[in-house]
Amino acid sequence: MTQILSLNDESINRAADILKNSGIVAMPTETVYGLAADARSDAAVTKVFKAKGRPKHNPLIVHVNELDDVLKIAKMSKKEQSIAQSFWPGPLTMILKCRKDSGLSELVSAGLSTVAVRIPSNKGARKLIKACDFPLAAPSANKSGSLSSTTPAHVESCLGSKIDLILAAGACRVGLESTVIDCSGPVPVILRAGAITAEEIKDVTGGNVEYDLCGDGEVKSPGQLLKHYAPSIPVRMNAIDLEEGEALLAFGSAKFMGIKGGGAASSLPDSRLRNLSKDGDVYEAAANLFAMMRDLDKPSNKGIAVMAVPDQGIGVAINDRLTRASQ
Ligand code: TXA
Ligand code: MG
Repeated sequence: MTQILSLNDESINRAADILKNSGIVAMPTETVYGLAADARSDAAVTKVFKAKGRPKHNPLIVHVNELDDVLKIAKMSKKEQSIAQSFWPGPLTMILKCRKDSGLSELVSAGLSTVAVRIPSNKGARKLIKACDFPLAAPSANKSGSLSSTTPAHVESCLGSKIDLILAAGACRVGLESTVIDCSGPVPVILRAGAITAEEIKDVTGGNVEYDLCGDGEVKSPGQLLKHYAPSIPVRMNAIDLEEGEALLAFGSAKFMGIKGGGAASSLPDSRLRNLSKDGDVYEAAANLFAMMRDLDKPSNKGIAVMAVPDQGIGVAINDRLTRASQ
């Protein structure tokens, strides 16, 4: 059994001790819980890949506290620094050219010449990085390919026996993984949609920002693999009514949703009904998405029918995750 400790100064010191000894610790971030390891240690990083059942060719994100720490491991142009200054600390991961003297374990970047870096805004994560005083490699704290964890209970249910400690600090504010932007080429390309949108980044750079979420043909970021973020039962998007036996993941009012064969979706039992946001707020929906999919992911439900979510703001990221879950 793994230890679960509420996040405070004492538990942060305990977590830092574990990390200094090449152990692995689940930590809160503003996006999703991360499974942290000393990014300089082959032994520690190997434990992360093993615990998640993650293929070795899928690189990890390195988490640091300050821009100066980023500059120790990666090269950054002025344009990249202006993106960083606008969105860090926060839910943005930048793919940058890695420095030869970065000191990082080569396993982190899976042999690529680039490195993914993020400065998280969550106070607990920042305190932990500070207590360690070295960069933390941290993928999402879940089994590879399945739903990310947005609460300590989710982490325990999927990785419980495999990790040394869970630092518990409630539900994650954003609820979806960070936006991943590849800055290693001539034009910045968003490889994974998240809370920070292309439009917001364009406002900063004044130039073009492209999306390449599906990696037509070649997968540039293994998170682009189509089947991903998936519950164990089928997911059906843009539902306008329910098949018998399906659960409903509503968005906005579910008043007019009917069940084929008779009945109203709004009278479904708790085990078959969740609403991402009764008010139709995409940010509230993002924060609820993974937790509600987990709630409905039961063998007694034939599948999860999801009402349409607008493709605006973080809605782009919600629809990206739902599309992958529904493959
Ligand atoms: O919000 C987040 O980003 C969370 C929290 C814990 O920070 N972390 C997270 O990590 O979602 P992970 O490992 O689940 O997703 C990282 C994504 C993967 O799709 C991976 O393929 C991609 O980033 N990635 C990492 N390094 C890369 C690189 N050098 N080039 C291209 N893609 C990279
Ligand atoms: Mg992940």
